[in-house]
Formats: sequence, structure tokens, C-alpha cells
Amino acid sequence: MKSEDIAKIVGVSRSTVSRVINNYPDIPVATREKVLKAIKEYNYYPNASARKLAGIKNSTLGVFVVDIKDDETPHHVIKNNEALLYGNTFFAPFINAFIDQSNKTNYYVLISTIYSTSELWKIQSAFYEKRIDGGVIIGSNKEDYKKILKQMKKEFFLAAVDIETDDFNKDRAIYVNINNYKAAYDIGKYLIELGHKRIGIITGDLEKLSGKNRFDGFKQALKDYNINLKDDFIGYGDFTEPSSYLAMKNILKSSPRPTAVFVSNDTMAIGAYKAIGELNLKIPDDISIIGFDNTEISEYMSPPLTTVSVSFYEVAKYTAGLLIESIENGNLKTVHKVVDAKIVKRKSCKNISTD
Ligand code: ADE
Repeated sequence: MKSEDIAKIVGVSRSTVSRVINNYPDIPVATREKVLKAIKEYNYYPNASARKLAGIKNSTLGVFVVDIKDDETPHHVIKNNEALLYGNTFFAPFINAFIDQSNKTNYYVLISTIYSTSELWKIQSAFYEKRIDGGVIIGSNKEDYKKILKQMKKEFFLAAVDIETDDFNKDRAIYVNINNYKAAYDIGKYLIELGHKRIGIITGDLEKLSGKNRFDGFKQALKDYNINLKDDFIGYGDFTEPSSYLAMKNILKSSPRPTAVFVSNDTMAIGAYKAIGELNLKIPDDISIIGFDNTEISEYMSPPLTTVSVSFYEVAKYTAGLLIESIENGNLKTVHKVVDAKIVKRKSCKNISTD
């Protein structure tokens, strides 16, 4: 079935059928209804490639997960190649929420993962080939994001999650970030209020905005409350579980040990729990642990993990909503949104002020 066939059945021109399909306002209501009725009756689906050639939007958004590991540092271990995306507790919930939000507004979602610099072309290609009307980039570091922007036209509808803004990039996209700095500051303050003085941290990937801001906010809190952050109490992780297992093993070699450690995401808290368990130490009696992201598993850990709740729903709602609004209005809304994050108190942190 072609649009010509629908035109013949209804007794209108092919261009009228096309104008109805593409929602042009200049078609009499009765004609529009007749055309739509025939389309439904004869199960006619307009050809997506033809629509693309005609420059008509295809109601599809792209999600580009950029998690580049070209320069493997020795501690970075990819445990299992098959688990790259679905095993990531930051990207996966965002993608799920983004799909829900986009589908609510009748937009499809095309998802692409980029694990090396040589794959960055996938992003520009999706835009230039008009596979998508707009897209969001999540997880990129600043350098790679700069490379991406250089290949993109200013007219493309772009959003970015967890990417730092500067003078060069601030007008090029919609930016949605989590208030990592403040939440990490709150974590430092919370541990100090519980009476801890020997406090450590396992960082995330410091090339990424969330990794950097979580470290900076935490350091600032310790500084403001005159708590010294010893070098031995800092472990450099990269948001993966094996990286924090090794980092925690190292931290636990120090004597005296820290009484509390902030682990920069929940996935890494699993690795930290494992290293602590292997030394027969008890959480929170011997060491308090606090995570970040409030991933699904955190409340089922033993003991249930105190962490920071991030609303992926809100991050996705803003990203998809602002992208779709920009596409529909033909004008990129260069909004910068910051979503708040809050400590969820469970059982992994102990008040030692009375000990
Ligand atoms: N938490 C925050 N950012 C993250 C990332 N890039 N990967 C995994 N977990 C994260």
C-alpha cells in the first residue's frame, strides 16, 4: 500500500494524503478524517526513509552512552565485557527512565554505546543521517565531549548529562546534572557529625564530572570542619566494583585505619564490603561505609547501605522533556538544570561520638 493508493481510495491528491500524515493545518477537517480513516482501515504505514528524505522529523531521540576506557589505568578491570551496559547502575536506570519519558510523548529511542574514541563518529553519524531528531550524551569526559561538539552542527538538538559546562560548550546543549558537590559535602558533614575523625574516600573516575564533584565536595566538608584527609585514606577508583575492592584493600593496610569511608558509588560499595569482609571486619562496628546513587541493590546489602538518592526519573524527565520541546519548537532551549540528591540513612554508618 502506497500513499497514492490511499489518495485514490479517498479521491484526493497524493499531496493531500501527505499533508494529512504530516499534520499540515491547511486541510479541511472532513478531508483529514476521511484520509485518516482510510489509513487506519488499510493499515498504511508511511515509509520512514521517504519521510526522512523529505526532511520530516521521525520522532526518535538518541541516547549515547560514552564510557571510554582507551587509557586503561592498571587498577581498572572490566570484569565482564557482556555486563558493560546493563551492569552499570548509573547508565541503565537513566536509560530506562529516558525511554519511559520519551515514549510518553510518542517518541522512539535509539541507543548507542561508545567504549573507545574510535567509536565517537557514531554520534555525529546518527545526527547527520537524520536517524534521530535530537539526542543526549551521558558519561563523557570533557575532552571527548569537546571532540564530539566539534563534529556537530550548532542546529542539532543536543542534551548532555553529567558533563561539565564552560564558555565553549554552554550554549550548545541542554545540560542536566546532579548536585554531586553538595551531596558529597553533606556526606562529609554527616560522617563528622557521627563523631568520625579518621575518614577516607574511594573516588570515582575523576575525569568525569560526578567523580570530580563528589571528591571536591567531600574534601571541602572535611576542610571546613578541620578534619585532615590523609593520603593513605584516599583510594582512586573508577566507578567499577573491582577498582574499589583493590582501593579498599589498600586503605585497610593503614594503621590506624579510618573509621568511615565514603565510596563514590554503590557499585564500588559492593567491592568495599567484600574487602572489609575478607579481613573479618564488621560494618558499621569497625568501619562505616556510605555510598552514592541509591541503586536498587543498596537496600538489600548486608548491612543495608547508607547512600545518596539520585532521581533518575527527574534527570530523564528534564532531558527528554527539554529535548522534545526544543525539537517541536525548532529552537534549542539551552537550559542548565541541576537535580538535588539526598542522603538515605540505612545501617552502614555508626555514631561513634559516644564510644
Ligand atoms: N555514578 C555516577 N557516575 C557514574 C558513572 N559514570 N558510572 C558509574 N556510576 C556512576
